[in-house]
Amino acid sequence: MTENNDPRLLGREVLRIAFDEASIQRRVHALGAEITAAYPDGDLLVLGLLKGSFVFLADLVRHIHRPLHVDFLVASSYGEATVSSGHVNLVYDPETKLAGKHILLVEDIVDSGRTLQKLMDVLQTRGPKSLEICALLDKRIATELKHPVKFAGFDAPSEFLVGYGLDHAEDFRHLPYVASLR
Ligand code: PRP
Repeated sequence: MTENNDPRLLGREVLRIAFDEASIQRRVHALGAEITAAYPDGDLLVLGLLKGSFVFLADLVRHIHRPLHVDFLVASSYGEATVSSGHVNLVYDPETKLAGKHILLVEDIVDSGRTLQKLMDVLQTRGPKSLEICALLDKRIATELKHPVKFAGFDAPSEFLVGYGLDHAEDFRHLPYVASLR
């Protein structure tokens, strides 16, 4: 199967597969091991930013071999556009208490970094023991992000990427690979 006869694409064409399924799985496995080693003790709360992180987070937590809890945050910035609107709305706040816990914020992609910076500011006020970012993809153009991405999967090309949680107008989130949209 080539990317463009994948029945999941609804007849839409993608430019190329940027990260194939096997490479993603290998990298996510390695990230899980890195995270396991980085948190030898304490309560770990893995906080996924919806919707984009849901596939990555589901795979990642199965490779973190220590006790943890999972919760989610919802923020939205892009809507149906292919460029960031600059507005970040917090739609859902985690119910779990963050104080005194290691918080690992999981994101699918860091673009401008605006979403993450806003969330980091909010989460820092809740008194976590530590607060770090894990992102599958990092475009490395996040001038607005003051906090480094501690656990990064891949450097992302400067293209519009879909799949493995990333969407365009809600399509393509279920692809097991990351493709660049034509
Ligand atoms: C996308 C993506 C990141 C954010 C990155 O989310 O999932 O959260 O934009 O952009 P930034 O670094 O420029 O802030 P989106 O708002 O499209 O929501 P989604 O996760 O529901 O797809």
